[in-house]
Amino acid sequence: MVRPAEPDRDCPRCPRLVEFRESWRAKKPDWQNAPVPSFGEPSARLLIVGLAPGLHGANRTGRPFTGDYAGDLLYQTLIDFGFARGTYAARPDDGLELVDARITNAVRCVPPENKPTGPEITACRPFLVATMAEMPNLAAIVALGRIAHDTLMGTLGWKKSAHPFGHGAVHAGPNGSAAVFDSYHCSRYNTNTGVLTPAMFRAVFAKVRAHLDGPPRPR
Ligand code: URA
Repeated sequence: MVRPAEPDRDCPRCPRLVEFRESWRAKKPDWQNAPVPSFGEPSARLLIVGLAPGLHGANRTGRPFTGDYAGDLLYQTLIDFGFARGTYAARPDDGLELVDARITNAVRCVPPENKPTGPEITACRPFLVATMAEMPNLAAIVALGRIAHDTLMGTLGWKKSAHPFGHGAVHAGPNGSAAVFDSYHCSRYNTNTGVLTPAMFRAVFAKVRAHLDGPPRPR
């Protein structure tokens, strides 16, 4: 059986998230209030894995990181490194296009207080597995934060002890499979406290760009 890469709108897997989603459907019927699908083409070589939709951001707009504080830094950085074109205006109809890149979340439904539980992360993992499986050219994965990193290690079958999370760390895939690039999450908390500066974030994407473009060729 081919597993779907996107959960149903009424996915029942996580009772706590279903209850939260339903409560926001009642309060804000015009919001997404459903699993937020991945953004970008499956043909992309780069996959960026976030944590989960923000309540007033992706859970409202229906596009990962869109309308979330974290999206401001993420999308500008993607534009700067040629992984997106157009203008990011925090709306899903802003016309922004991803270029050779795709964005998804480890957990597709908004969790209370931005904190998914371990069982919720596990319950949502088959969708990450299926998302990666439908990307034939996948060569680089950016893990935004430790939870995305740990989820990816489980998904790829790599030992966390051999591949600990660290900002700026690059975990080479066996036999030429996709490499994982770690970054602190570009959350409001991390950027406001200086845990993650725009320069630190850009340095991760500079490595990704160099990895995908290959070593400079001699003239
Ligand atoms: N919005 C998302 O879609 N994902 C995150 O990880 C944070 C904000």
